[in-house]
Order: sequence, then structure tokens, then C-alpha cells
Amino acid sequence: MKVGVLTGGGDAPGLNAAIRAVVKRCEKYGFEVIGIRHGWAGMLNKETVALKYEDVKNIVGRGGTILKTSRTNPLKSPDGIERVIKNFKDLGLDALIAIGGDDTLSVAKALSERGLNIIGIPKTIDNDVSETDATIGFDTAVNSAMEIIEKLRDMAESHDRVIVVEIMGRHAGWIALHSGLAAGADLILIPEEPFKIEDVINFVKRKIEAGQKPIIIVVAEGALIADYKGPITKDSSVDQFGHVRLGGIGEFLAKEIGKAGVETRAITPAHIIRGGPPTAFDRLMATRYGIAAVDLVKEGRFGVMVALRSCKIVTVPLSKALEKMKSVDIELYNEAKTFFE
Ligand code: F6P
Repeated sequence: MKVGVLTGGGDAPGLNAAIRAVVKRCEKYGFEVIGIRHGWAGMLNKETVALKYEDVKNIVGRGGTILKTSRTNPLKSPDGIERVIKNFKDLGLDALIAIGGDDTLSVAKALSERGLNIIGIPKTIDNDVSETDATIGFDTAVNSAMEIIEKLRDMAESHDRVIVVEIMGRHAGWIALHSGLAAGADLILIPEEPFKIEDVINFVKRKIEAGQKPIIIVVAEGALIADYKGPITKDSSVDQFGHVRLGGIGEFLAKEIGKAGVETRAITPAHIIRGGPPTAFDRLMATRYGIAAVDLVKEGRFGVMVALRSCKIVTVPLSKALEKMKSVDIELYNEAKTFFE
């Protein structure tokens, strides 16, 4: 049995732990493993590397992905899918484990519908893949964002300033909400509930009048201003999956608050929260995902994704996982509002 493994989309801490587990479990069953480099680009170009446990045994704590990654979408070129199918056969693969977010997994689903033996492992710091409690990288990103916000608090406190911290997460507010709550932010703005600029300014003024400086506002990069045309973007370019580059809402908001005469700074940690060693939680979950994925190969169950539900590893159809984006539960956001007074 020959098993391929690839990592696609944005890198995330914990990917290497998953790769390591896939290789180890494959060796247990006597399966050969090849790594596909640069995500789906590697399947288009047959860019592979043989993987033995010796090569991966010490990578459990390393961020990024030793296989490298890309945002290449084979569905974008007219013969892309046919080329991947041909290369899958040429490489002699019996199964392919695709580790990625909704983009990577949507290609996995398309290939599975064409009859290839594919299994998905959910990864993205954004945590926006449905049918699973968590995706690889989310916990680490939350912890990194929390630490950054806490460090910024020192500056904000010393200078009696308002700070606006813009946190990645694309169109979901998971990282902003979790890190903001954990770091004790005064206000958290997420895409799931559009906000009015004047409400934020009034909030800041109220706090200042009550002598409650500094004020820490966490805003998700995809947060929406009510009555505005959409999220604030870096430019108008889109990647191969049709995604715009988000960013700028923090600066925008800080300027608006500044116009009201309040000294405000905007800070955007951006990709920093995607780097560094994974947390123990991410290492453990990624390891369990890797083991479970190989077990599915052994059982001959394909077209599915491994997932975490109430601490247990389960299996869900790829089609179900991709039906819709997993947004923040408004009930959870309402709970968080306890601290926004
Ligand atoms: O999906 C992960 C993510 O980090 C998002 O939070 C962010 O919007 C995007 O990727 C950034 O993409 P890139 O690494 O291509 O700039």
C-alpha cells in the first residue's frame, strides 16, 4: 500500500505533528509513504519526497510544514483535475491524505467524487471548518494572539492609550473572540456581528469618562462595518480559491477613534500568530488526526475527514464538512459581551 500526504493552504502550527503521525502509523502497517510537496501544486507537478519515520521523528514541535504548502487550486485550470488523477496513478498511490482547510479539502472532495481514495485532515488557524470542534493550528494561534494582546496591554496601560489589535481569521471571528476573551479585552468585534463605528466611539468615550483607560479592542480582520460594502481588504486581488486579502480594519478603526480626540494605536500581528511551536493541544490533536487518517486507509474508508468532537476523534463525510463555513456561535459571542460594558 502506498500512501501520499500533502499540506495545502496557509501553514499552521501542528502540521508537522500530523505528518509525523501519518508516517509512524503507516510504518506500523507496512505502508510506504510519500510526501507531496507544495500542496496541490505537488500533485500537478509530481513533486514528491519519500518519508521514513527517521526523517520525521523530531518534528512534532516544529511550526510550519516540512512538506511546504501553496494555495494552488487544480480546479482552476481546465486540465488540473485530470492531471492530478493521472499523476495519482503514475505515482502508484493507493490513497492520499490531504491536510488543509476548506480550500484544500474542497479539492480533496472533488477528487474523491472522481473515484480517488482521499482522506481529509482539518487544518487552519481560522477554525472555520464545519463538523469539527477544532482544526490544527487554531489553539496555537489563539495562544499566540493572547500573549501579544497581553504584551500590548503593558504599553497601553503605561501610556493610558486605546489600542486596536487586528487579528487574522478570515471571515470567522474564532481567533479574535477566543484570544480577546482570554487576554481580557474590553471589546471584541467579529465578522458574525457587524458593528457601527459610532457605537465603538461612544463605547470608548463612556469608558474614558468612567476613568477606565487603557482600552483594548480586538477586531477580527474580517469584521464588518454595518452599512459598509464588505470587509476591508488590502487590495482587489484574489487567490486561486477566490479569496481577497483581508486587512486594514484595525488601522481604519484606530483612525476613526483618533478623530474623536482619543490617542489610539493600531497593531496588526498578522502572520506572527501562524508561526512558532504548536501548543501541546495542537500537537496531540494533530497526532491523533494523523493516526486516525491512516487507520481509515487501512479500513478502506475514503471521501471522509477526521474530526474532533467532545475530545473524541470521529469521521465525517467530506461533503458534510464542506457544506458551510463554521462561524462563531452567536450565543458564545453574547456571553463574551458580559465584558463589553
Ligand atoms: O487561513 C489562514 C489565514 O492566515 C487567514 O487568517 C488569513 O486571512 C490568510 O490566511 C492570509 O493568507 P496569506 O498567508 O496568503 O497571506
